[in-house]
Amino acid sequence: MQYKELNNGIKMPQLGLGVFQIPQNETKETVINAIKAGYRAIDTARAYGNEKETGEGINEAISNGLVKREDLFLTTKVIFNEYGYEATKNAIEDSLNQLNQDYIDLYLIHQPYGDIYGSYKALVEAKNEGKIKSLGISNFYPAKFVEFMREVKLRNWPKPVINQIEYNPLTQQKVASDFIPKFDVQMEAWAPLAQGRNNIFKNELLSNIGKNHNKSVAQVILRWIMQNDIVTVVKSTNPKRLEENIDIFDFELTNKEMEQINSLDTNKPSMDHQNPEFTDDFYDMIYGL
Ligand SMILES: NC(=O)c1ccc[n+]([C@@H]2O[C@H](COP(=O)([O-])OP(=O)(O)OC[C@H]3O[C@@H](n4cnc5c(N)ncnc54)[C@H](OP(=O)(O)O)[C@@H]3O)[C@@H](O)[C@H]2O)c1
Repeated sequence: MQYKELNNGIKMPQLGLGVFQIPQNETKETVINAIKAGYRAIDTARAYGNEKETGEGINEAISNGLVKREDLFLTTKVIFNEYGYEATKNAIEDSLNQLNQDYIDLYLIHQPYGDIYGSYKALVEAKNEGKIKSLGISNFYPAKFVEFMREVKLRNWPKPVINQIEYNPLTQQKVASDFIPKFDVQMEAWAPLAQGRNNIFKNELLSNIGKNHNKSVAQVILRWIMQNDIVTVVKSTNPKRLEENIDIFDFELTNKEMEQINSLDTNKPSMDHQNPEFTDDFYDMIYGL
């Protein structure tokens, strides 16, 4: 496993398991299978409804001697109907209970809406109390990201270590990937495999590059992300694909192959938080208005 050092000196595995859309009754087993396969980072969220089962998987892997807690990097995220100082304080306590952990490695603000500063204040306090090791944000598009970085500095709060955004060969977020490192924040990719959309696993260019290295399309994509110095979490419930997705540290894409993959960008995120219609629909979805 490769690690990236975050701006607070903590090292984070560059590749991890994401448990979005994994049903509760499959989550524990998937987490254990992933740890067996060598994954050391696990990414869940309040919104995924499987914090409890994620924690059960981690705790069973630890009690079976597969891994020690300090070797794992556990991320969760606060959902935006729990934003604001008091609500986020409660959410953090509930996450610790659901996950059944003494601490959480990384706690993210999931969406760039609502009272993000009240929430961040609660996260900073929980960090000072040792309940969270690192703080981060997710889906903060470039202008919002810069505003947030400036506000955090004005308030003398610790910088977020991560901005987790959608990123894959079809959605390369060129402006974000320029701006995030400029502020010494690590970019993390969600949906690295584009959730399988747009026939990505049959893409001709990616398939041909895979043939050059005897690797699958998924392995080529994940390797391209590693070589771009980006952290990622990938989801699979299939034990063979879990092993396939982590078997990417024994080959290297050439500069030409990297550039060819760069040419696949469509500049169309599947979730565009700057789009007013998306934002309107998102509020409906979360608050059911
Ligand atoms: N911050 C956010 O707003 C946000 C949003 C979305 C996701 N995320 C995080 O990012 C993680 C990853 O994103 P994602 O789950 O949306 O999508 P993804 O990892 O890009 O794609 C997952 C899909 O690809 C399939 N797959 C995985 N490995 C494969 C392989 N080697 N060959 C063929 N198919 C393969 C999976 O099916 P099988 O399970 O059947 O293998 C699943 O359908 C999430 O789990 C979550 O932790 C964060």
